[in-house]
Amino acid sequence: MGLLIPFIGFTLLAALYKLYQRVTRISIARVPGPEPESFLLGNLPEYFQSQAGEADFKWQAEYGDVVRLKAPFGEDRLLISDPKALQYVYQTSGYNFSKQPERRELSRVVSGRGILWAEADDHKRHRKVMLPGFSGPEAKGFASLFSAKAAKLGEKWKDIIASSPDQSSVLDMPSWTSRATLDAIGEAAFDYEFGAMENADNALGKAYMNLPFDTFGTLTRSDIFLQNFLGYIPDGMRELFVDYLPSKKLTHARSTAKLATGVARALVDSKSAALLHGKGNKDIMTLLVKANASEDEKTQLNEEELLAQMRTLILAGHETTANTLSWMLLELARHTDVQTKLRHEIRATRQTLQARGDVEFKSSDYDAMPYLTAFVKESLRIHPVAITTFRQAVKDDVLPLSKPITTTSGEVITELPIPKGQKIITSINGYNRNKDIFGEDAHVFDPNRWLHAGGIKKAAPVGVLGNLMTFAAGIRSCIGWKFAVVELQAFLVELVGGFEFSLTPDAMRIRRESALVMVPTIEGQVEKGAQLPLRVRVASREEI
Ligand code: HEM
Ligand SMILES: *[C@@H]1O[C@H](CO)[C@@H](O)[C@H](O)[C@H]1NC(C)=O
Ligand SMILES: *[C@@H]1O[C@H](CO)[C@@H](O)[C@H](O)[C@H]1NC(C)=O
Repeated sequence: MGLLIPFIGFTLLAALYKLYQRVTRISIARVPGPEPESFLLGNLPEYFQSQAGEADFKWQAEYGDVVRLKAPFGEDRLLISDPKALQYVYQTSGYNFSKQPERRELSRVVSGRGILWAEADDHKRHRKVMLPGFSGPEAKGFASLFSAKAAKLGEKWKDIIASSPDQSSVLDMPSWTSRATLDAIGEAAFDYEFGAMENADNALGKAYMNLPFDTFGTLTRSDIFLQNFLGYIPDGMRELFVDYLPSKKLTHARSTAKLATGVARALVDSKSAALLHGKGNKDIMTLLVKANASEDEKTQLNEEELLAQMRTLILAGHETTANTLSWMLLELARHTDVQTKLRHEIRATRQTLQARGDVEFKSSDYDAMPYLTAFVKESLRIHPVAITTFRQAVKDDVLPLSKPITTTSGEVITELPIPKGQKIITSINGYNRNKDIFGEDAHVFDPNRWLHAGGIKKAAPVGVLGNLMTFAAGIRSCIGWKFAVVELQAFLVELVGGFEFSLTPDAMRIRRESALVMVPTIEGQVEKGAQLPLRVRVASREEI
């Protein structure tokens, strides 16, 4: 108690100073945007409490691709889906835009001081250590591992379906996809069998299952205030706040952190000696252990970073892919024509490779399937599971714009000066449905747009795949995107080749829950976390 009063006093002073700084610098106050609902929370409740993309789409339609939002205490933020501005922030400017300190703190609790958390030179070092493990050839090499995991999932489903009276079962997609991708990342990155598919009670599988939902989902107004208030706390104290603040939201993250660090440590202990003296290959675990032993500061990871890296990979690499796969299966259930067409292509390709004497798909077989490719891109466009990314300007800067903006004072500007520290919310959903790029029907799910020339316009190309922001862009783009694509291809080929998916009454009431990642929940049962029940039956054999 004795310490609390000066602590709060100091924090308030620091917050006041930050407020004072704000009124004395370049201002974006004249950029058009929605009226804030209150001084304390601005527009953030609507942004964080509505379904993923809902507020983005509404404001994008009303104000365009650069929108001024209000944050707590009247602070101005930018919500951006403008291609040129995003190209500048993510691809051109290197480290001149950083992550937001308060968001980094949350990410530290969830996955530690690994690559997702690191900034500038530290980030460069983390990325340098990891990159060789995520190259195209490395990712493609995992095709057979992923397809074996998918086949195992298929076997489980067949057993369940075989024992049901009408030869079909209602299965909850996220619970299966989440465990299957946890097993996949365990084996691919760490050569370790988590066994989550075998055992629904697997502790790690269960801990990760609703981690994003529990930590970042269904935010109350005070959660939103608190997460943003962290931005006003001086750097050294912010960490204390995040570590010790009693908060239901952070409790799950803290306990998963302990569990995952324990698992990572046990894994490293059992393998490091062998890996260190093995014949240097590029699997991720070997890269990490060698970096811990490296003498060169530019490629060195200390032990805390090594463990954080493993936790980061488990988290970044599994819930993202799992939720994407769930959204893909939902779109297939909604669009039976797309599903049938995809199944035809999968089966025809299987016949071709069997005729050539192969039993397994290679990554090049996946890439040679135009409809699969179009379906994957269209699903990633409509359902970008990493909903938003957050940045701030490291210095006073000027954002280039694709289209002029008319300010509230009637001035037409073609570029936007922003002050040092300006916070930016990147609307990945908004960008992915930008009509100038994807056409007037940008809100419609239609894989065919990728199949005809001119379907996608590339005015200011940004992003690593298909001109989408789904995996972000530039030096901090998703390191695992190639890995994710091969994994999604492998699971789709196995599951859609072998099963038919159809809607259930609950699947007609799916919400795109905003929980840092986009999680499917059922309207009226949101508190139960991720759910997406689809009816699954074994696809008939004769039909190709
Ligand atoms: C569909 C699946 C995935 C999506 C949509 C996705 C999306 C993203 C996005 C948007 C970022 C940028 C975050 C930011 O800047 O704030 C990111 C970063 C990252 N992703 Fe992914 N990701 C996916 C799968 C994966 C997989 C499979 C792995 C690893 C095996 C992975 C590992 C990472 C890592 C390590 C980073 C941090 C990169 C850095 O800061 O340099 N992701 N991802
Ligand atoms: C970052 O900003 C500095 C200072 O304005 C500038 O010299 C540098 O070129 C910028 N870096 C990039 C990659 O644009
Ligand atoms: C990482 O490096 C430290 C310092 O050299 C060493 O004590 C530790 O055992 C290493 N950890 C692993 C898992 O190799």
